Amino acid sequence: MKTVLAIDMGNSYISIYKKNCGIVLKEPNLIAVSGSNSNYKIIAFGNEAKKLQGKTAENVVIFTPISEGEIKSREYLSALIKHFLEKLSISKFSKIKALVTIPCGISKQAKDLYRKTCFMAGIDEVKLMPSIVAATIGSGKSIKGDSTTFVASFGGGVTEVAVLNLNSIVKGGTLACGGRSLDVAIATSVAEKNGVLVGVSSAEKIKEEVGSLYENDTLNMEVSGINVSSKMPQNIIVFSKDIRLKITGYIDEVIKLIETTLNLCPPEVSADITQDGLLLVGGGSKIVGLCEYISKAIKMPCVLSEYTENATILGAGKLLSDESELKTILENVGG
Ligand SMILES: Nc1ncnc2c1ncn2[C@@H]1O[C@H](COP(=O)(O)OP(=O)(O)O)[C@@H](O)[C@H]1O
Ligand SMILES: [Mg+2]
Repeated sequence: MKTVLAIDMGNSYISIYKKNCGIVLKEPNLIAVSGSNSNYKIIAFGNEAKKLQGKTAENVVIFTPISEGEIKSREYLSALIKHFLEKLSISKFSKIKALVTIPCGISKQAKDLYRKTCFMAGIDEVKLMPSIVAATIGSGKSIKGDSTTFVASFGGGVTEVAVLNLNSIVKGGTLACGGRSLDVAIATSVAEKNGVLVGVSSAEKIKEEVGSLYENDTLNMEVSGINVSSKMPQNIIVFSKDIRLKITGYIDEVIKLIETTLNLCPPEVSADITQDGLLLVGGGSKIVGLCEYISKAIKMPCVLSEYTENATILGAGKLLSDESELKTILENVGG
């Protein structure tokens, strides 16, 4: 028996696509661990671990096995994947083949670590490909032929920009920050302005609900936190304008990366790009007003992917059924 999967190894979420079935699992890339380093016990995985965030006893830590695109714990990540495979009732006696999406431009050692982690989780055969390539295909763009696609991916741990054509990456760049570092910045900003400490998961909710790049947006929401001085619980209202500076700070860095990448391209490629513009993918691309903000800065059109954070897994899943295209892509950009 053989099981063929695509796995989007995202910093925030792990998604699994089963060939001919579609997306069969999507859960946070989190585990809850109790005890000490040498004597630890995993007490919750994925969705269950996320529910515990900010609510755990002192000896329980919510751990992110991948941070800024790098595997921080092979043990935890392989345990998480193994748990997901068991949850999907994928028998450990079946031969498991997986196409795994990873960040762009990482070292050979880092790629080996992804591979080894998958083997530890019980996957028998592993093929690696850059998630930005999968996300482009998942957004319905072809990377075959000489038509060029310019894409920016806003993930949880990394932000990537790439120019793709002829099944390969012409130019690309990565920022070792993404949605999660923005959450931390938002929590800091709320503490400074309101004198109230909010957890990272509350900061993420604030970002998703009221984060906006429109200057006059009046979106707001109530959140609870702990008053810095009294140490008592307190509810506050957070407005779009309270966190806008943190968001523009991050996006302005991405715009610099977009411009640098563009400047490195040969003139013929730049001409193609200027016409079609930039494709935005990843969960962070849902920030309100992002398309307009970037488009104005780089003076070219921006298009939001129809599938934002699911574009990567959909693209990788689609490739499972197109062996010749997959082979060509892996020869050019695989690892
Ligand atoms: N509406 C939204 N506004 C801003 N950020 C969002 C929104 N929805 C999701 N995100 C962010 O997108 C990130 C996850 O995106 P995703 O592409 O799944 O990342 P990864 O592939 O690294 O797991 C998280 O940081 C999440 O907070
Ligand atoms: Mg992803």
